Amino acid sequence: MEILCVVGARPNFMKIAPILDAAYNFPDIHCTLLHTGQHYDERMSHLFFQELGLPKPDIYLGIGSGSHAVQTARVMMEFDRVLNEREIDLVLVVGDVNSTIACALVAVKRGIKVAHVEAGLRSGDRTMPEEINRILTDQISDYLFTTEKAAEYYLIHEGINREKIFFVGNVMIDSLLRHRSKANECDILTRLQLKPKQYAVCTLHRPSNVDTEEAARNMVKALEIIAKLYITVLPLHPRTKSRLFDYNLLSTVDALPNIRIIEPQGYLEFLALMDNAKLVFTDSGGIQEETTVLGVPCFTFRNNTERPITITAGTNHLIGTDPNALVSALDEFESNPRQPCQIPELWDGKAAPRILQIIHDKLDKK
Ligand code: UD1
Repeated sequence: MEILCVVGARPNFMKIAPILDAAYNFPDIHCTLLHTGQHYDERMSHLFFQELGLPKPDIYLGIGSGSHAVQTARVMMEFDRVLNEREIDLVLVVGDVNSTIACALVAVKRGIKVAHVEAGLRSGDRTMPEEINRILTDQISDYLFTTEKAAEYYLIHEGINREKIFFVGNVMIDSLLRHRSKANECDILTRLQLKPKQYAVCTLHRPSNVDTEEAARNMVKALEIIAKLYITVLPLHPRTKSRLFDYNLLSTVDALPNIRIIEPQGYLEFLALMDNAKLVFTDSGGIQEETTVLGVPCFTFRNNTERPITITAGTNHLIGTDPNALVSALDEFESNPRQPCQIPELWDGKAAPRILQIIHDKLDKK
C-alpha cells in the first residue's frame, strides 16, 4: 500500500511525525513524505524536521508564499505533476492549511482515496481561511479521523456518511507526550533567564489579528496589559513581524518593559516554554490543545474556537480581541486560578497507531 503523506506548514509537522512512526509497524504499508514548501524558513520548517526526527521529504514542491489563490493553485499544479509519476493508494492530509485542501482536491479528482486527519473541527467562522479549508477537505475525503466528539456532530450535520468517520484522538498530542521530557531538557529557560511558572508566552499570527492596522493596534494594547503583569516571551511569526513593521508598531512592542521578542522557536524549545509558563496567550488553534494537555491556562484572542473540548474539559478561555476584556479576564484569573483540567478522551499518545490500523484494514479489503 502506497500512502502519500502531505505536509506544508509548521502545524503539520508534529501531526505527521507520529503517523510516519506508526507506519513502520505495518510492513505492507509504505509512506512517501511530500512537503509542499508552504513554510520554508529554517525556523518554520527545517528545524521541526530535525527536532521531530522526521525523515527528509521524499518530494519537495518549493511552493513558498503568495496569495491564497496563488499558493493553493501552485500546490495543486505541482502535486498533480507528482501524481502523474506515481501509483498511490491513499493521500493523507492533516490539519487545515492551504496545502491540505490543495492536495486533497487534486487527489480526489484523480480518483485517489483521501484521508483527513483532524477532520470535523468547525469554528463557524467562514472568514477564517482555515474554516474553508476544513469544510472542503472534509467533504471530499474518504476517511475522516477526528480528535473530539463534537467533530462527528458537525460532519454528520454536513451530510457526511457516518461510516467514513473515525474518532481516534489527537496526533498532535502523540507528539507532545513523546517529546515532553526531551523538551524539558533543553536550555531555553536558562538562555532567556526565565523561572518556571513566572512568565507568560504569547503567540499571534492570525490574519484577523494582525493583517489590519486596527487589529494589530488592539493586539499591541493587549501586549501592554500582559507585560504590565508578567514577563512575556513573544516568539514572532514572520507574518506578524512584517505587519507590525508595516504599521510602525514593531519598535513600540520591542520597547515594552518585560517583553522578550524572540525568533520563532523549534518544536522542543516552544514546548518547554509552554510547559513552564504561568499563562499562555495565543490565537493559534493547536496551542489551545497543547496547553490543555500540559495543564497550563490559555487565553485565546479569538471570538470562537473550532476546538470546544479545550474549553469544556481543558484550560482554554476565549477572550476575544478587545483589550479591555483582557483586563477583567486577568483579574478574575489572578483572584481565582482555574482548577486543573481533564485530559480529553483518547488524547493518550496513541492516535497515530489507531489511524494506521484503520487505514490498513480498510485498504486491505479493497
Ligand atoms: C499558515 C496557515 C495557518 C497556520 C499557520 C501557522 C493557511 C491558510 N494558514 O498561516 O492555518 O496556523 O500557517 O504558522 O494555510 N512566511 C515566511 N516564512 C515562512 C512562511 C511564511 O516568511 O516559512 C511569511 C510570508 O511573508 C508569508 C506569511 O508569512 O506571506 C504568511 O505565510 P502563509 O503560509 O501564507 O500563512 P501563515 O500565516 O503562516
